[in-house]
Amino acid sequence: MNFQPTFAYAQQLDKADPLSGYRQRFYFPKHNGKNVLYFTGNSLGLQPHGVEKALRRELKQWREHGVEGHFRGEMPWMHYHKFLQPQSARLVGALESEVVVMNTLTTNLHLLMASFYRPTKQRYKIVMEAGAFPSDMYAMETQVRWHGFDPAEAVVEVSPRAGEETLRTEDILATIEQHGESVAVVMFSGVNYYTGQFFDLKKITEKAHSVGAYAGFDLAHAAGNLPLRLHDWGVDFACWCSYKYLNSSPGGPSGIFCP
Ligand SMILES: Cc1ncc(COP(=O)(O)O)c(C=O)c1O
Repeated sequence: MNFQPTFAYAQQLDKADPLSGYRQRFYFPKHNGKNVLYFTGNSLGLQPHGVEKALRRELKQWREHGVEGHFRGEMPWMHYHKFLQPQSARLVGALESEVVVMNTLTTNLHLLMASFYRPTKQRYKIVMEAGAFPSDMYAMETQVRWHGFDPAEAVVEVSPRAGEETLRTEDILATIEQHGESVAVVMFSGVNYYTGQFFDLKKITEKAHSVGAYAGFDLAHAAGNLPLRLHDWGVDFACWCSYKYLNSSPGGPSGIFCP
């Protein structure tokens, strides 16, 4: 069926969409008594119908068991990270032992960088995309300063070519190649929050490794949105949030991948 820019065509596609039934599982804010067309799931996902029941179950667990709730009941809190491993692993294409849900995204980014970014005089640069999410830029700058380096020299940003909005993979790879052994970490988003560009994580990872650097990714806009195969792609570390495409609520916990 050829594309047609009509409402009827869009409705037809909706009907044929095997995932369309999932729409019924969420609450939509109303405008003039009607469900809004919600295009901001990239900022905060909608509330799933099942959330209230799940929260009530935990409140009951706390009410009835107090501290023993860590060890009793169907889902004792002590083991909560384990309950979330299978689905987290599936989302990002990882082994269950490679993922855990904890903290918030920026906290995890710092923790991961604390492990993976160990700059030396020879190898101290971080290659990232120009126009990354502001808190990611601040986090990288903080990391660089923490180790006594100057962000103006240590943070290398890859920009789109003049007149273009997105980055060319060849330019990303060429920048990594050009800075070679001075690169400590290549830190990109999976999907740029502003342009929606899905980066070639596999190629970026391979190139980072070829110069002896680590490759890490902020998957805030990729996890739950696109198919990922972090394990197969050889990615060194990644983190993501769960309040966008995973609908976990504002302040919901982050996930990390660390093989
Ligand atoms: C790409 C990206 N990185 C980081 C963040 C910030 O994450 P948090 O405030 O949950 O640490 C966001 C939030 O929208 C984001 O879109």
